[in-house]
Amino acid sequence: MCCFWIFYFGILFFILGGFIFWLIFLPKEVEFKVTDAKLTQFDFNTNNTTLNYNLTLNITLRNSNKKVGIYYRRVEAIAFYKKKWFATVSLTPFYQGHKNTTILRPVFEGQQVLWLKPRDVSSFNAEKSSGVYSIDVKLSFKIRVRYGKFKTLRYKPPKIDCPLQVPLSSNGNSTNGFKTTWCDNAYFFSDRNAD
Ligand SMILES: *[C@@H]1O[C@H](CO)[C@@H](O)[C@H](O)[C@H]1NC(C)=O
Ligand SMILES: *[C@@H]1O[C@H](CO)[C@@H](O)[C@H](O)[C@H]1NC(C)=O
Ligand SMILES: *[C@@H]1O[C@H](CO)[C@@H](O)[C@H](O)[C@H]1NC(C)=O
Ligand SMILES: *[C@@H]1O[C@H](CO)[C@@H](O)[C@H](O)[C@H]1NC(C)=O
Ligand SMILES: *[C@@H]1O[C@H](CO)[C@@H](O)[C@H](O)[C@H]1NC(C)=O
Ligand SMILES: *[C@@H]1O[C@H](CO)[C@@H](O)[C@H](O)[C@H]1NC(C)=O
Repeated sequence: MCCFWIFYFGILFFILGGFIFWLIFLPKEVEFKVTDAKLTQFDFNTNNTTLNYNLTLNITLRNSNKKVGIYYRRVEAIAFYKKKWFATVSLTPFYQGHKNTTILRPVFEGQQVLWLKPRDVSSFNAEKSSGVYSIDVKLSFKIRVRYGKFKTLRYKPPKIDCPLQVPLSSNGNSTNGFKTTWCDNAYFFSDRNAD
């Protein structure tokens, strides 16, 4: 009987402790937006189904938490066109302190063989004549979160999706009309399926 009460209060304190911990830190998700995109090449050659690309992005990460810091231990930017993967760029790991903003600058350049459906090829041709391409960039992380002095284990939150409309830059024209684009929500502290 006494063991039951010890067990019972143990659980109760554990839950209460977790709740107080949550109240103290109240973590807010990091916000991601793409503030600049420079696309100097985006050619799909239908003869050898090869995409030649050259895309540079400025991605801004804002950690607005007062007491929570994030160690980004593995950082990857992954680019897709018409839902087909074409490039992955690894970036240097870094620590983002509380109330801080970090700018990432991935450069995608090279060529990749892509198997586009005929429908996607005609869509590519339409985008080519309009000069604006729909490119999807996803950010993949392995992170550790720091709550005050306590650090979590390393884990992999869901990828962050940035669906972009990128105009082709004509000869060094920097004011090319790219509009700042918010990425989808991050789920570093909460479960995506919970809400
Ligand atoms: C993107 O980053 C580069 C290099 O840091 C900077 O020169 C440029 O002004 C940035 N663009 C924007 C829109 O912040
Ligand atoms: C594809 O091949 C044809 C015939 O060889 C050529 O005329 C055409 O310019 C090529 N297209 C591209 C995009 O290189
Ligand atoms: C495909 O053709 C383009 C243009 O002719 C060339 O630049 C590229 O290297 C070719 N790619 C492959 C994989 O052969
Ligand atoms: C890609 O574009 C940048 C300018 O944004 C340029 O400096 C670089 O040489 C280009 N790379 C290739 C392979 O064309
Ligand atoms: C925010 O980041 C900058 C540059 O990375 C650094 O100098 C500054 O100390 C950081 N601030 C905090 C509160 O961590
Ligand atoms: C740069 O692009 C903008 C928007 O497309 C255009 O209004 C401007 O005239 C261009 N400037 C140059 C020097 O080509």
